[in-house]
Amino acid sequence: LKQESLSQIEACENLADLQQLRVLYLGKKGPIQEVMKSMKDLPKEERPAFGQQVNAIKSLILEAIDEKKAVLEVKEMEEGLEKEKIDITLNGYEARLGNLHPLVLVQQELEDLFVGLGYTVAEGPEVELDLYNFERANIPKNHPARDMQDTFYIDAQTLLRSHTTAIQTRMLEQFAPQVPVKVICPGKVYRRDDDDATHSHQFTQCEGLVVGEHITLADLKGTLEFMAKKMFGEKRVIRFRPSYFQFTEPSVEVDVSCHICGGKGCPVCKGTGWIEILGAGLVHPNVLEMAGYDSKKYSGFAFGVGIERIAMLKYGIDDIRHFYTNDVRFLKTFTRFE
Ligand code: PHE
Repeated sequence: LKQESLSQIEACENLADLQQLRVLYLGKKGPIQEVMKSMKDLPKEERPAFGQQVNAIKSLILEAIDEKKAVLEVKEMEEGLEKEKIDITLNGYEARLGNLHPLVLVQQELEDLFVGLGYTVAEGPEVELDLYNFERANIPKNHPARDMQDTFYIDAQTLLRSHTTAIQTRMLEQFAPQVPVKVICPGKVYRRDDDDATHSHQFTQCEGLVVGEHITLADLKGTLEFMAKKMFGEKRVIRFRPSYFQFTEPSVEVDVSCHICGGKGCPVCKGTGWIEILGAGLVHPNVLEMAGYDSKKYSGFAFGVGIERIAMLKYGIDDIRHFYTNDVRFLKTFTRFE
């Protein structure tokens, strides 16, 4: 009995089994109790010695169980810890940060640049009145100049603004007859157009407007050349070509010298050395008068630049649709420009 119980306790591998062994050997129905009960059948003088022997075995077993119990408790605790262990050296999931959209980057760059020159930034509604988009821009109803911008009409008086010149005419009305006026007006504009790599029914412009005494084309040219150098590099120069807009007189088309140019085969300027970037001119006297300015006393210049166009030139983007399809692989490449 002694050998058997001790070896079983020794072999026992968990606390639950050990408890069973304790019941088995030391419980009420166990062999120790049985033997104790049978003591009454022994002759009186043999009982003490027998009892001592049985008790000795009993305490041996108890001791063995207690020892084993201590060992198993430690073992089970260690196993538990092992199972619940967290490997803190594993890589976690990287938090993916967003970045600014390239159109926002260019718009902010323009805003910073002009705020630095003392301009303020003005906005206006995208759903605009015909009044501000066309009439006040010197484009009356049924005038053929309206065809230059095929417009989304909402009803006879309301439309999606087709150019940021609509913000310009609002600003003129708001400021008149005060001078100086120095604002830039960035925002989305809409035109009925078939979308392709260079056309989009929705794009972004930034208008610039200055009104004061003796404002001339020279002021316009100096301002735009400063802008071209900031946006495309200090070596850039600009040139004016005659153009036509209903709301400016004279009107010019502005080219910037190519910033990529490798000469003949240049993919950006096709070897001409010049890239058209915007339309501009001196604010038409009619536009000033309609807003409440004395056009004999004051003059002004205005320009309108396409933000997509600038972004495409600056970052070498070949398809305007990239700005709207929002493929994250495209968007992520602008992280490094922030
Ligand atoms: N509104 C013109 C366009 O959208 C651009 C422009 C703005 C031209 C201001 C002259 C002055 O094409």
